[in-house]
Amino acid sequence: MDWVQFAAQWIHVIAAVFWFGGTMYFDFIVLPTLRQVPPLTGREVGRALAKRIPPFMRTAGLIVIAVGLLRGTVWGPLPPGDNSLSFGSEYGMTWSISILLALAIFAVGDGVIGRTAGKLYGDDALWSFATAGGPPPAGFLALSGRLRTFSLVQLALFVATFTCMILMRFGL
Ligand code: HEM
Repeated sequence: MDWVQFAAQWIHVIAAVFWFGGTMYFDFIVLPTLRQVPPLTGREVGRALAKRIPPFMRTAGLIVIAVGLLRGTVWGPLPPGDNSLSFGSEYGMTWSISILLALAIFAVGDGVIGRTAGKLYGDDALWSFATAGGPPPAGFLALSGRLRTFSLVQLALFVATFTCMILMRFGL
């Protein structure tokens, strides 16, 4: 038993559980709930979450990617690890694709979703309809739509990356 590899896998998987699991919980439980409650309540909670979530997700994502890189190479089969597989092997290609997918997840989460949520919940003008009555303004609808679309894109990228993890487990 290689204890360093064991520790790397442990850290990688627990950070991945937090990153992917936290995202699924947010998309399927938190976001739909924020849309069901009265707008001002949804806004208050949304604004607090938009501040609290990014540092946690950023940290989890960076740990997953950094330890995933090391787990495949230094503490894994790819060079400079035990060299049992090459970067051109099926495993090596799946590992390389995983990096690209995870970087895309990170960029979408931190760059697009985090910023969109910050703008949506932080701009007072977008929420005046909640007290004045009437339909939400176009800016509100555009930002809500962007949040929903990129959450789906991010989920699809997560599912693809997770599939890569299982493939590597079987040597592919
Ligand atoms: C969304 C991001 C990710 C998630 C949710 C995730 C999750 C997982 C899980 C659950 C395992 C354990 C699989 C098993 O033993 O059956 C695993 C293993 C592994 N992951 Fe990730 N991972 C992610 C990103 C990455 C990235 C970006 C890399 C590489 C740069 C990577 C490299 C690895 C490696 C090398 C293994 C060990 C595979 C093996 O040889 O059995 N992971 N990951």
